[in-house]
Formats: sequence, C-alpha cells, structure tokens
Amino acid sequence: MLEVRGLGKVFHPGTAAERVALRGIDLAVAPGDFAVVIGDNGAGKSTLLNAVAGDFAVETGAVLIDGRDVTGLPAHRRARWVARVFQDPALGAAGAMSIEENLAVAARRGCRRRFRAALGREGRARDRTLLARFGLGLEERLRTRVDLLSGGQRQALALAMAVVRRPDVLLLDEHTAALDPRTAGLVMDATVAVVGDAGLTTLMVTHNMQHAIRFGNRLLMMRQGRIALDVSGPAKAALTVEGLIERFHLADDKLLLQA
Ligand SMILES: Nc1ncnc2c1ncn2[C@@H]1O[C@H](COP(=O)(O)OP(=O)(O)OP(=O)(O)O)[C@@H](O)[C@H]1O
Ligand SMILES: [Mg+2]
Repeated sequence: MLEVRGLGKVFHPGTAAERVALRGIDLAVAPGDFAVVIGDNGAGKSTLLNAVAGDFAVETGAVLIDGRDVTGLPAHRRARWVARVFQDPALGAAGAMSIEENLAVAARRGCRRRFRAALGREGRARDRTLLARFGLGLEERLRTRVDLLSGGQRQALALAMAVVRRPDVLLLDEHTAALDPRTAGLVMDATVAVVGDAGLTTLMVTHNMQHAIRFGNRLLMMRQGRIALDVSGPAKAALTVEGLIERFHLADDKLLLQA
C-alpha cells in the first residue's frame, strides 16, 4: 500500500529558476494495484516517483508505505521497500559485473541475510526462472558482463533486479521508452507477468497511449503538478486511445468532473 498525502515540491524556491513541480498530491495505491501515470512533459510524473523514492526533501506532505511514514528517510533507507527502473538502460545495472552478480547485489539490497542464498544455487535457479520470463535468452547468460548486452536486455535485467526482492512499491519511469517497439513489447509483457506474479504495487509512467490503455488497472493523468484524471476498474478498461487523447485536451475542471 502506497499513500501520498498533500505532497508538494518546489525546485529552486525563491529564485528566478523556481519551479512548482507538485501541487498537493493525494494518492492511495492499494496493494497489488498497477497504476499507469501519463501527462505532458513537465507535468510532474517523474517528480512524483522520485518523491516516493526519496530523492529529495519535499516542502509539504507525507509518503507512507504500508502505513510507515517514510517522508523523512533518504532514498537509500527506502530502498528496501521501493524499487525503480528508469528510462536509460545504462542506469539499471553495473556494466562491469555479470548478470548473476548484479542480481545478487539487488537481492541483498537492504537485507543482509539473503546475501549467501542469493549467490548460491537457490539464487541461481530463481534468477533463471525470473529472467526466462522476458523471452530474451538472458537466463542462459548468467555469467555474461552486462556491458555486452543490448539496451532491451539491460532493461529486462534492470526490471528483474527491481522485482527480485519483492519490493512493496515498484516505480517504472518510462522504462520501455528507449527500446524499439518489438523489444518494448517484450519488456512490457514481462513487466505485466512479473508484477502480476508477485502482486506488486506499481506506478508506471509512460507516454505510450496504447500501453496506458492496455496495461494496469488504474490510470492517472497528471497536469501541472496535479492529478487531473484518475480512472480505474471498468472505466479504465473502457478507455480508448482516441478517448484518452480527447481528455488530454480538456480543461482541468472538466477532467475532474468526468473522473
Ligand atoms: N531536479 C530538478 N531541478 C529543477 N527543476 C526540476 C527538477 N526536476 C524536475 N524539475 C521541474 O519540475 C517540473 C516537473 O518535472 P518532471 O520531470 O517531474 O516532469 P515529467 O512529467 O516527468 O515530464 P517528462 O514527461 O518530460 O518526463 C518541470 O517543470 C521540471 O522542469
Ligand atoms: Mg519524466
């Protein structure tokens, strides 16, 4: 369960470069919910995810994970509950290390007891099963150095690293945007599979309207630091790309009335 209460973020306050990025976000994402976040460039999508991850202090509001108030904790202390995958394949895994080593590091993040198990045979079997979900052949290349992998393979590994220790919250910030359409499709299918398997509470940012319609059980549209549209269940299932684009062009007050 993820709860965000009255979250406000201003970058460079009181200077000429001041940017209000979040204007009082209230959001509750139920356990196992897969919420897709869309919105124009600069709407505050990444800032919302980064605030949940703890990249910076926020001006107002609170972030709660499974009822724990983590607002005052820096990102590395939230890492045992929150996992992330970014757009850039170079950010996910360490290039000079093998697939297996990266997964072992990810598995023990925030949890020392698992270190040995992750490196042992049990860890290897688990890694193979997880990687096989992606259909990219990574499970046969556990000893391969990551810098020899393609962008799609690296994103698949980054996702495997994010889910390996079953985080309470999974944050995906345009994690397929740098991939070709076929590979993006494979990584998306695997995302749905691993998120569904583990019942992970997920926030996924995308600019891909088809993905926004097809995936997840909830859709949030952000605009100017606010959540302008929030649809779930049957209303989400009934959305079309055309309908969504139409809503993109509506004024905020009309959007909120519709939701
Ligand atoms: N580190 C930062 N320093 C200063 N301003 C920032 C910073 N990060 C974000 N902003 C500003 O905050 C606002 C929201 O940015 P954010 O990156 O959250 O948008 P976004 O919805 O993720 O957009 P995009 O679709 O382009 O990724 C923008 O005005 C942006 O310029
Ligand atoms: Mg962004």
